[in-house]
Amino acid sequence: MSNYIIETNKLTKRFGKFQAVKDLELKITHNKIHGFIGPNGAGKTTTIKMLTGAIHPSWGEGVIDSYPIGSKRGRQAIGYAPAESLFYANMTTIDYLVYMGQIKGLSKRKAVDKAFDLIEYFGLDDSTYRKPINFSSGMKKKVMVAQALINDPKVLILDEPTANLDPTARISILEILKTIIKERDLSIFISSHILSELESLVDEVTLIRSGEIVLSGSLDGLKHIFNKGQYIISSSDNTLLQKLLEKYCSDIINDILIHENDALMIKVDSKNKAILEKSIPLILAYHKISLIKFVEKEISLDDIYKEIYTKENRG
Ligand SMILES: Nc1ncnc2c1ncn2[C@@H]1O[C@H](COP(=O)(O)OP(=O)(O)OP(=O)(O)O)[C@@H](O)[C@H]1O
Ligand SMILES: [Mg+2]
Repeated sequence: MSNYIIETNKLTKRFGKFQAVKDLELKITHNKIHGFIGPNGAGKTTTIKMLTGAIHPSWGEGVIDSYPIGSKRGRQAIGYAPAESLFYANMTTIDYLVYMGQIKGLSKRKAVDKAFDLIEYFGLDDSTYRKPINFSSGMKKKVMVAQALINDPKVLILDEPTANLDPTARISILEILKTIIKERDLSIFISSHILSELESLVDEVTLIRSGEIVLSGSLDGLKHIFNKGQYIISSSDNTLLQKLLEKYCSDIINDILIHENDALMIKVDSKNKAILEKSIPLILAYHKISLIKFVEKEISLDDIYKEIYTKENRG
């Protein structure tokens, strides 16, 4: 069995002469949360629509849970919450969830059971008999994500589930997703252009721009590659430490800056990281300076994004 719940090969979508998605090679690992990130118009929704079978690829192919995308089994493996919430005016939350369950092939009895479970899970108990069309954006999104889970899908595909939500509603949805992936045999593919919010959620990311993948991989792996040898160091005497570093390590250090709380920020080339990590304790010990903090500064998803897209813009 493949390690990937979703895998595509040269997936391409043309609208007339315009290529919205080009030769996409997506690899989404089983039981992981995969962030699909890109600016407006990058091709996120078009890709998602091809995965869900809503539109046909112009070229290329893909599999979901080893079934071809667009096939009946491929579609059954998916739970999908589109970017726009659409509700029927006269349906209550319970009506809507049962209706969606039945559309997906559940018996009425099973759909009702599942609907009540999801209402409880999403904390929508007080809104069971109210109409989602009148809900706040945050509650509408919850109902959309809940309906996507009604048939116990293998993979949950969410198109910008937190767009236009206030921080409380956003956190509430993200917390539910974090819990749900631990409790079920589920993989999540989630698109967004809000990077910082996904950072605490995703295991893997794919960044796209103008329909093409710019970067894809595990978040830890990406951070490791992009970490630039920036260290934060704080000691009992930062002024002395700075002088000593300038004296003894000037050949490996590119820059020393003053960071928050008088700590020092040191920049070295990646090839010199190991030397710096060995030298610092020796210098401190020899000069009887005690160490408070010595860490490599973690790069954020936002930093990676900025780095990639500014490089691209520079050509
Ligand atoms: N049916 C269509 N006909 C023609 N062009 C389309 C169609 N659907 C999408 N496009 C174009 O394809 C490109 C990608 O659109 P898409 O909606 O996939 O982007 P997105 O990454 O989801 O953007 P957003 O963040 O704004 O939702 C855009 O330039 C869009 O205008
Ligand atoms: Mg979109």
